[in-house]
Amino acid sequence: MYTRRNFIAGAGAAAAAVRLLPEMAWAQRAAVKMAGLPKDMVWLNANENPAGIPEVALAAMHEVLPTANRYHYQEFGGIYDAIAKSEELSAEQVLVGAGSSEPLHCIVDSFTSAARPFITVTPAYEGPTDTARALGRPVVLTRLRDDYTADVHKLVEEADKAHGGLIYLCNPNNPTSTVTRARELAWLVANLPANTTLLMDEAYIHFVEAQDVESALPYVRQGKDVIVTRTYSKIYGMAGLRVGFAAARPDLIQKIAPLRMNVISIVSGRGVVAALTQQQSIVSDRKASLAKTRRELCAWLRDQKVKFIEPHANFLMIDCGRNAREFIARMPPLGVAPGRPFPPLDNMLRVTIGTGQEMAKFRDVFLKVYKG
Ligand SMILES: Cc1ncc(COP(=O)(O)O)c(C=O)c1O
Repeated sequence: MYTRRNFIAGAGAAAAAVRLLPEMAWAQRAAVKMAGLPKDMVWLNANENPAGIPEVALAAMHEVLPTANRYHYQEFGGIYDAIAKSEELSAEQVLVGAGSSEPLHCIVDSFTSAARPFITVTPAYEGPTDTARALGRPVVLTRLRDDYTADVHKLVEEADKAHGGLIYLCNPNNPTSTVTRARELAWLVANLPANTTLLMDEAYIHFVEAQDVESALPYVRQGKDVIVTRTYSKIYGMAGLRVGFAAARPDLIQKIAPLRMNVISIVSGRGVVAALTQQQSIVSDRKASLAKTRRELCAWLRDQKVKFIEPHANFLMIDCGRNAREFIARMPPLGVAPGRPFPPLDNMLRVTIGTGQEMAKFRDVFLKVYKG
């Protein structure tokens, strides 16, 4: 629930948060490094993809790099077209940005106001919530259900109460790795209150194997009040290249577009277009390989009688049986960097799924800390 009082208090902290936003991911990682930690650290803290940048993208970027003294503005229409086409959308239905972070930021700015709250679940990916707070917009957080899934009815109830708002949902959710099922998504779209927009963050949708989970992109194609964000940072393994996009009805895209900061780099743009020439095999091969490592880890945790939330993305939440802050701090000196704490899930440790070898090291270190 938001009140005028905490809205004003939130706005007080806002200016500092605005300055911090771009550094958030970097600062978190650098803070671990600064403690003088092992060179062969296994990084399982940021849901990156150890499969790396696809070969075809690397070759294309290598080729364009020497010509990056030019802006190449004339090429961007083609790059945006290729990205739109890869999801059966028109260029008018897509806004490309620096990762999905940039479109997310612009969407929160465009679709919330002092009278139109940002409504989501807790815990969820903090970026958009932090943006809303930094902009001084009211934030409404709803509790996850006992099975750690989003309660779509509660989200609608809150939007209704506020006479409209922006509902933000990650599917799968970060950090819980849980999903919103297709029938719940359909209910949510069909029951959006007046003056309400649904923002579905599908950063991890490619990793889902469950048959009853679907993307919200068909609702975008149908012209609903739905915006979907996607990123090349996760399954495509291109996090440092910073490319993502928002997909929505052209009138919604036009509302967001003026807030975008810049075009992406030509190197990143060419890399993504090259990766899209092998879209199907990149996505299916990486999904299969990740799912295998994820299954192995879950089986091991079951054998060890360690509780966890059934994962659908490239990370999972493990119940470490005590406050996770201390647990998290003890792992990096032993060579494994897990995710940050995610209150209110205070006993949960978020772990990104790495390679088979990385997860072998994770299992060793985890057991040492768990038993020690
Ligand atoms: C759910 C979710 N959305 C968006 C992002 C932003 O990533 P990027 O800007 O690299 O697309 C992240 C980053 O980890 C995330 O977890």
